[in-house]
Amino acid sequence: MKNRVLVTGGAGYIGSHTVVELMQTGYEVVIVDNLSNSDISVIDGIEQIVGKRPDFVNVDCQDYVSFENVIKKYDDLCAAIHFAASKAVGESVEKPLLYYRNNITSLLNLLEIMQNHGIHNIVFSSSCTVYGQPSDENLPVTEKAPRLEALSPYGNTKHICEDIICDQSRANSSFKAILLRYFNPIGAHPSALIGELPNGVPNNLLPFVTQTAAGLRSELKVFGDDYNTPDGSCIRDYIYVVDLAKAHVAALERMLKVDSEPVEVFNLGTGKGLSVLEIVRGFEQATGVKLPYRIVGRREGDIEKVWADPTKANTVLHWKAETPTDQILLSAWRWQQHLMSKANKQ
Ligand code: NAD
Ligand code: WQD
Repeated sequence: MKNRVLVTGGAGYIGSHTVVELMQTGYEVVIVDNLSNSDISVIDGIEQIVGKRPDFVNVDCQDYVSFENVIKKYDDLCAAIHFAASKAVGESVEKPLLYYRNNITSLLNLLEIMQNHGIHNIVFSSSCTVYGQPSDENLPVTEKAPRLEALSPYGNTKHICEDIICDQSRANSSFKAILLRYFNPIGAHPSALIGELPNGVPNNLLPFVTQTAAGLRSELKVFGDDYNTPDGSCIRDYIYVVDLAKAHVAALERMLKVDSEPVEVFNLGTGKGLSVLEIVRGFEQATGVKLPYRIVGRREGDIEKVWADPTKANTVLHWKAETPTDQILLSAWRWQQHLMSKANKQ
């Protein structure tokens, strides 16, 4: 039986955690990653956790010939999980062509290679960004909520990639896809051997929180306390990256083992919204570390509040995000401490 999964972007944050879960479930893996936003040491971390090294190839998915040459070497591929993409929202506004080229070309190449080599199943990393700011009656957000016009080129690539996959499915009866719309992934593996590696000054909340707690940043700026939310700060659905990784295994097994619809969409979130200030307090309570913060003005383009209705994933994928918030925040802190001790040794 074909038992190997192609994981593009498998050296990245969500990809590496997913590779661990896949291997621990018994799948073979081949990672294709150009290390544009990750480090080769991640593969060592995976090996240490799993006790086995995944196959890894440093190739850019935009390079069709090199990408196809990797796939030609494997005759046991049953599916692809496609994480490889550029993901910084702000950068995508400044460099839209880079984002369109990378995110769309990489997907087109992958789909063409899959078609040419009889690989019929794909799990695609989409995002809650496709919902924009849902209206109050659409909160929590189900998969039936309308996709709103994207607020950034990055967000637009997720719209376009979802559409490309749907079109490819209409044209090929054997092709199956699951689109996973992640909410806000946070935290790190409990081993603290893999986690998020932000590039430069973090844009996302949790890496900024842990870097501030570690003294690398003087204070966290909380972007706005005048929103229409209970404490005035923005609300998100923060999902533990290990729970998220497990959802990929559930999605894969559904495609491989169940006579499911050709394209299915799932929201991956906890179903619970937390405000920025709740995260700040939760972090202090979970870790016992004081977090210097200051309320500043709103960040341009921020959504006020969004959280998932994960009922479909809970019932159809038999998957649930269950890790308590304090455990998740502690895992992020332990990962930050691991990074610091590694930096001190160098
Ligand atoms: P990440 O940057 O940590 O991982 C992406 C990986 O893909 C990196 O290792 C990078 O080197 C690699 N990569 C990028 N372009 C490539 C290319 N052309 N060829 C080969 N490798 C390439 O990001 P992540 O947070 O793990 O996100 C993974 C996926 O999930 C992305 O598609 C992202 O858009 C999506 N997503 C992320 C979030 C989030 O908040 N992290 C939320 C929703 C969706
Ligand atoms: C979370 C909250 C900020 C930093 C982004 C992408 C989205 C998706 C997930 C990929 C917001 C506040 C943050 C800080 C703060 N990614 N904040 N001070 O904006 O929900 O979504 O990541 O698909 O597309 O846009 O995540 O972590 O940046 O912010 O107050 O220093 O934390 O205002 O309310 P966001 P985030």
